[in-house]
Amino acid sequence: MPRIAYVNGAYVPLAEAAVNVEDRGYQFADGVYEVCLVVGGRFWDEEGHLDRLDRSLAALEIAPPVGRRALRLIASEVLRRNRLRDALVYIQITRGVAARNHAFPMRPVPPSLVVTAKRFDLEKSERLAAIGVSVVTAPDIRWGRADIKSVSLLPNVLAKQAAAKAGATEAWLVRDGKVTEGASSNAWIVTEAGEIVTHPATHEILSGITRRTVIDCAEALQLKVVERPFSAAEALRAQEAFLTSATNLVMPVVAIDGRKIGGGRPGPMARRLREAYIRHCAGR
Ligand SMILES: Cc1ncc(COP(=O)(O)O)c(C=O)c1O
Repeated sequence: MPRIAYVNGAYVPLAEAAVNVEDRGYQFADGVYEVCLVVGGRFWDEEGHLDRLDRSLAALEIAPPVGRRALRLIASEVLRRNRLRDALVYIQITRGVAARNHAFPMRPVPPSLVVTAKRFDLEKSERLAAIGVSVVTAPDIRWGRADIKSVSLLPNVLAKQAAAKAGATEAWLVRDGKVTEGASSNAWIVTEAGEIVTHPATHEILSGITRRTVIDCAEALQLKVVERPFSAAEALRAQEAFLTSATNLVMPVVAIDGRKIGGGRPGPMARRLREAYIRHCAGR
C-alpha cells in the first residue's frame, strides 16, 4: 500500500507528492512545521502543537491556510488513508509559490500545506529508553529566533550529522558556554544537588511542547524544575541527563562527548518523568 500525503487540497501517493520549484519553502526555507505524536489514534499534546504552529505562522506573517478544525480533519484523514494508529504527523506550511524574490510576494499567494505521517513504534522507543542515548556537544550557530519552528534547519542538520558521525543520537548545542538545546530536542540535566534544570524558553530555544508538559508533570509530582541555562561542564558532572521531544518523549542521556553520565545508565528521574508523561498524554 503506497504511503499517502496531503498536498494543497489533494491526497496523493507519497512518491507523486510534489510542490512547485518556486515554492518559497524550497527557495528560501520560508515556512514552518509541526510534528505531533499520535498513539492509538490519540494526538498527544495536540493543542500545544497547534498553538505553537499558530505562533510560528504569526511570527513570519504567514496566514494559516486552513482553520484548526480543518487541519485536524486533514491530519486524521492522512492517518486513516495510511492505516496508521501510532504515528508521527508532520504538518508543513510555507508562504506559497511566487516568482523568486526575497521580499514577500507583492500580491498575497495561498500558503502551501503539506501533511504526512510515518509509523511510530512506542515499544521500540521504550526499549531505547531502557538503555538511553548518547549526545555530543556542537556549537550553536543558529539565528536569533530559534523559538520559531522554521523549516530552515541547516545548522540543526549539520549538528545532527556531527552527532551521527560520532556514533551519537543527538547533538547538544552550545552557545556562550551554555547548552541551549538539542538539534531536535530540548536538553535537561539533574544536577549534583538534585535540581532538574532546563534552558528557559527564550528566543534561543524552541519551546518544546513536550518540555512544557514534562514541567507540568514534574510539578504534579511535586518536583521543582529550574529553568536556567547550564554549561556543558555542569552537564558532565550531572547525576542524570535527558532530552525531550514529541518523537523521543523523555529519553535518558547516558553519555555526553563520550563521558558517562550517571554511570552510563538511565537515571530514576528520567524514568519517572517519562512514565508520568506517557500516563498524562495517554490519558491513563
Ligand atoms: C530544535 C528543537 N528543539 C526542541 C524540540 C522539541 O519540541 P517538541 O517537544 O515540541 O517536539 C524540537 C522538536 O523537533 C526541535 O526541533
